[in-house]
Amino acid sequence: MRILVVGKGGREHALVRALAESPGSPELFCFPGSDAIFELAKPVEADGLESLVAWMKSNAIDLCVAGEESYLVKGEGLANLCGKNGIPCWGPPKESAQLEASKEFAKEFLVRNSIPTARATATDTLAEAVAAIAGEYPTVLKFDGLAAGKGVAVCPDEASAMSFLDEVFSQRRFGPGRVLVEQCLTGPEVSVFAAIIDDQYLIFTPARDYKRALDGDLGPNTGGMGAVASRQLVSQEILAQIEQEIVRPTVDGLRRENLPYRGFLYFGIMLTPTGPQVIEYNCRFGDPECQAVMPLVRGDLAAFCLAGANGELRADLIRFGTGWSVCVILASAGYPENSRNGDAISGLEKITASRVYHSGTQRTADGNWETHGGRVLAVVAGGSTREQAVTQAHAAADLVEFDGLQRRRDIGILNF
Ligand code: AMP
Ligand code: GLY
Repeated sequence: MRILVVGKGGREHALVRALAESPGSPELFCFPGSDAIFELAKPVEADGLESLVAWMKSNAIDLCVAGEESYLVKGEGLANLCGKNGIPCWGPPKESAQLEASKEFAKEFLVRNSIPTARATATDTLAEAVAAIAGEYPTVLKFDGLAAGKGVAVCPDEASAMSFLDEVFSQRRFGPGRVLVEQCLTGPEVSVFAAIIDDQYLIFTPARDYKRALDGDLGPNTGGMGAVASRQLVSQEILAQIEQEIVRPTVDGLRRENLPYRGFLYFGIMLTPTGPQVIEYNCRFGDPECQAVMPLVRGDLAAFCLAGANGELRADLIRFGTGWSVCVILASAGYPENSRNGDAISGLEKITASRVYHSGTQRTADGNWETHGGRVLAVVAGGSTREQAVTQAHAAADLVEFDGLQRRRDIGILNF
C-alpha cells in the first residue's frame, strides 16, 4: 500500500509513525513533511494542491491521509480533488470542512441539529459585537475563520474584549471576517475523536489538552503544551452521553445535510454542570492529542484508514490500549508570542523507552537537530497507570536540552 500524508507537524509525525508500524509496512510519502518525517516517509515535491494530486495519480498512491486542516479548504479542497481523480482520501471535502473553517457554519449546524453548545450571536461590526455582549462578562469572542489557534478570546472584562475586537475589526489581524459573541461555559474540557465514515463512526481514546503556556494552567493560550489520553479520562456514563447527545446527532446531521464525511472529526467538548457541550469541531486529529493517542492504537491503522476512505468501517482492524499516555511538549524561546529557530537540541539519543515526535525541528548540515518552530518536540510515554505514564514522560523530557526550552511540569498531573 502506498500512502501519502499531508502536513508537517508533530501530529503528522505521530500519524506517519502509526501508519509505518501497521502490519503491511506501507510505503509512505509526505507533503510538505519535515526532516523528522522524512526518516519514515519520502518527500514529495509539489507546487500547490493540483500538482500534489497529479503526483499522487501518476505515482499510484492508494490513500491520501489529510493531517493538517488547511489543505482541506484550500482551492478546490484536497479531498474534493482526490475524489475527482479517483484517489481515496481520509479527510472530508471542502463543504464539510466548513465545520472547522467557519465557526458560524459550525454553530448553525449545531443549533439545527439540537446538539448542546454555547449560545452565540454573529456580528459584523464593533458596535454589533458590543451590543451582543450586552455588558455580560466573562464573554467568549471567536473570529469566524481559520486563525491558527489565535482566533478565540475568553474575555474576563470589557478591556480584554475591546482589545480583541480592535484587533479583529480595526487592525484586521486575521483578515476580513465576522466575530461570534458566545456565552462563556465552565467545566473541564475533553477532546473526543471519532473516525466518521458516512453514517457510521468509531470513537477513539479520549484526550485532554493543556492549552495554557504555564503550570497551574496559567499564562497565554498556546497550540497545546501537552496532552493526556486514556479511556479512563471520562466515565462510561459521560462518554455514553457524549456519544448519544453529540457524536451520533453530528453524524446524522452530516448525512441529512448532504455533507459527506470520511475522516477524523475532533469534538472539543466542555463538561459543564448541565452536561457535555460542543465548544468546537475540527476536521482532523488534535495536536498534541494525536501524539498521546496514537501510541495507544493497536492493529492496522493503515488498513483501517484505507477501508474508511473507501466507505467501509472496519472496527475489527484496530483496538485501543487500556492504559494511560502522556505527551509533554518542549517549546522554543518566545513561544507562543513568537518562536526562536536555530537552537541546538541535545539529549535525544538518551531517550530509549519513550517516543519522541518532532513538531518543529530541522536537521543541521552536520546531522544534528535544531529548533525550527514554536512547539519543538513531543515526548510521549505510556503506562498502565496515570502515575507511571506521567513519571516516565517527564523523566524522558528531562533528558532533552536546548537554549530557551519551555515546558510545563504539570502535564498529566494537573486534573481539571
Ligand atoms: P478553540 O480555538 O475554539 O478551541 O477555543 C480555544 C479555547 O477557548 C477552548 O479550548 C476553551 O478553553 C475556550 N473556549 C472556547 N469557547 C468557549 C466557551 N464558549 N466558553 C468557555 N471557554 C471557551
Ligand atoms: N489541541 C488543539 C487542537 O489541535 O486544535
